[in-house]
Amino acid sequence: MERFKVLVTRNIPQEGIQLLERIADVDVSPHDRPFPREELLAKAGEYDGILGLLTDKIDGEFFDAAPKLKGYANYAVGYDNIDVKEATRRKVPVSNTPGVLTDATAELAWALIFAVSRRVVESDKVMRSGNWSGWGPLQFIGGDIKGKTLGIVGAGRIGTETALMSRGFGMKVLYTSSSGRKNGVLNAELHAELVPFEELLKRSDFISIHAPLTPETRHLFNASAFSLMKESAYIVNTARGPIINEEDLVQALRNGDIAGAGLDVYENEPAMASGLAQLENAVVLPHIGSATTSSRTGMAELAARNLIAMLKGEKPETPLNPELYD
Ligand code: DGY
Repeated sequence: MERFKVLVTRNIPQEGIQLLERIADVDVSPHDRPFPREELLAKAGEYDGILGLLTDKIDGEFFDAAPKLKGYANYAVGYDNIDVKEATRRKVPVSNTPGVLTDATAELAWALIFAVSRRVVESDKVMRSGNWSGWGPLQFIGGDIKGKTLGIVGAGRIGTETALMSRGFGMKVLYTSSSGRKNGVLNAELHAELVPFEELLKRSDFISIHAPLTPETRHLFNASAFSLMKESAYIVNTARGPIINEEDLVQALRNGDIAGAGLDVYENEPAMASGLAQLENAVVLPHIGSATTSSRTGMAELAARNLIAMLKGEKPETPLNPELYD
């Protein structure tokens, strides 16, 4: 059988590499950092298949540099790094990793909801500083969660799971939908309400973002959106950074237009907007939504299975351009 040549642009869990090695000679980037663009363009032409990350831009220039490519597998569910239209035009199949990271990402959204509303990180810092003077009635007062209103922006897989996890807290759930279609699970299980974006902004105590990054969602949260939110409300983002205008967020947090923000993603990763790091009402994590053993292993295995299928000319499990197989 033909042996393929595959590039993996950064080390991923071994389970995925081992699957690929059954049918391919696999080069794994030896560096624990994003694959430099120039190097990717210089090397892409050698490979039949590439398994890459959200930090790899997969666009026309990349495809020009990879004439032999039989498929590209993204090690992420989000695929704003891929020009899918261009891939389809060139008949190159591409895939992502939905499903395997749903629970982990929803759980991290909840970790941020708790951390920001109950001031967990700020309190931890005081303990470590040695400056805590003992219990005090006015110390570290935060916001309640039980019985409050949770607004889900983007009620796909992860948004739905995040909403379902609110069951223990008896929350009212609101959600938006870009298609305008109701979410059957949320309606049946939580009597959730599908509402226009502005209504969600005005009524929610917690807003959790789960929408994909598209031209429509870029900077969806800006100064005017923050001005509609309650001053006591919190925003959490485990989706993609550019959905929030980060400079406007810093202003809103400084001015007390909203109570706090829990962020796992940033507009210009790995950088953060100036001023964000100094704000006590922001909890900031380094894009770890899917960082559990089972989730990252599941991503490696799914991305590898997808790439193997594409190399063999078969339809991958989770294709982004399924029409190529019609
Ligand atoms: C994704 O999969 O899109 C996350 O951002 C990384 O796991």
